[in-house]
Formats: sequence, structure tokens, C-alpha cells
Amino acid sequence: MTVPDITIAIDGYSSTGKSSFAKLIASTFGFLYLDSGAMYRGVTLFAMESGMICDGVIDEKALEASIGGLDLHFRRDDGATTLWLGDRCIESEIRTLEVSSFVSPVSAIPFVRAYVDDKLHSFSVGGRVVMDGRDIGTTVFPNAELKIFMVADDKVRAQRRFDEMVAKGQSPVFEDVLKNLRERDHIDSTRKTSPLRQAEDAFVLDNSSMTMDQEVAWIRGLIQGRFGILY
Ligand code: DC
Repeated sequence: MTVPDITIAIDGYSSTGKSSFAKLIASTFGFLYLDSGAMYRGVTLFAMESGMICDGVIDEKALEASIGGLDLHFRRDDGATTLWLGDRCIESEIRTLEVSSFVSPVSAIPFVRAYVDDKLHSFSVGGRVVMDGRDIGTTVFPNAELKIFMVADDKVRAQRRFDEMVAKGQSPVFEDVLKNLRERDHIDSTRKTSPLRQAEDAFVLDNSSMTMDQEVAWIRGLIQGRFGILY
């Protein structure tokens, strides 16, 4: 199936499987995948490592003073996109529970959002992009040709995140993972700047009990119907 050069925006709650789904779309249809959450995680890691988060308090002034010179970028090798801070690949460091516990307050800061939005636009030049996040269909790409909003039961989501962390050799406690996820859902959907919400023209995908194959069949059907593509 040949998909036109469109932008696909995928938004939704934490751990709804947005990035797995977006990666699958990218490899199935030959799109560039960009993970906007990774950028917010990268800024958070930078702030933590630079001592700008002390006793749970973010030093916004210090972060604002240094964010302009922050060299966060994606690299594409063998089809996989990874996030780099200068010449260091930070893909695994940005996925710890410690980064997860600060990323929502960091991503609620307006100048952080402006920095990430700029970066996302510069990496998307040329189109044929699938991007996942919280405000892609509402703020970053309000004119995206296809918007998807992903939801799933929160215990199912926490179990997915828990399994992911165990597979990476971490030792999470399920209740902590569930608590972090609920807190992030709350901060992400109630913040003032670009809160998480479903765009009016987004299609909802509830994948609480769906397999990846079923998700691919769903998006194929959606694209065919929407763009009049025949097999
Ligand atoms: O998708 P994720 O869990 O890696 O995202 C990490 C955090 O970044 C999430 O808690 C909210 C924030 N985020 C955001 O505010 N806007 C986006 N477009 C993507 C992520």
C-alpha cells in the first residue's frame, strides 16, 4: 500500500504504546519517526545532570539561561532514530524512573515547550513524518493530515511500562510505576501550555486489549478510507 506524503500525529496518555505504534507505522510505510517525549526527557536529563533540579525543585532561571545552547538532536542510523546530547547517545538514560518523575513538570515550562517545538519543526522538514507526543495534533502540527489519539486502561499501561523497565535490567515497583503514570497523566492534561487533549479531528484508538497486528490492520483501514487508497 503506498501512503501519500502526509504527516501523522499520534497523541495520547503515557504508556499507551504510542512510540511502538509510531515506529511500526514508520517501518511499514517508510516514514521518519520522531519521538517528541524523548526531547522533553533529554531536557530533563540535562537539567538533572547540571544540578538544576535539587530536592525536587527545578531552577527555571538556570535552565532558561542555558537552554539556547543545548545541543539535543536526533540521529538516524539503519532506520532507527536515537536522541543525542552533543556527542553522547542518551536513549537509555532518558527512560529511567528518575527522569520520568521530573519530565512532566519540566515539560510544563513554556520556554522548554518553545525550545522543543522549534527542534521538532526543524527535524520534520520535508514531511512524511510520524510523530508521537501529547500536543502534536493540537499544537505542533495542527494541520497534520492524520491525527490519532491513543487511550488504554491505566493498569494495562503501568504493566507495559513495568515490563519495559524490567527488560532493560531495572528493578521497578509496580505501585510506583502506576503512581508515576497517574501523576503524569494529571500534570500533562491540566498544565496551562499545550495540555494533553484530543484534537477535534483525531481518531481514537483504544488498544487496552489489542495486539500490534490488530493496530496495524486498524491504521491500514483508516488510511485507505481517508485517502481513498485501493489495494
Ligand atoms: O511519551 P513520554 O512518556 O516519553 O513523554 C514524556 C513526558 O513529556 C510526558 O510526561 C509529557 C511530556 N510530553 C509533552 O508534554 N508533550 C509532548 N508532545 C510529548 C511529551
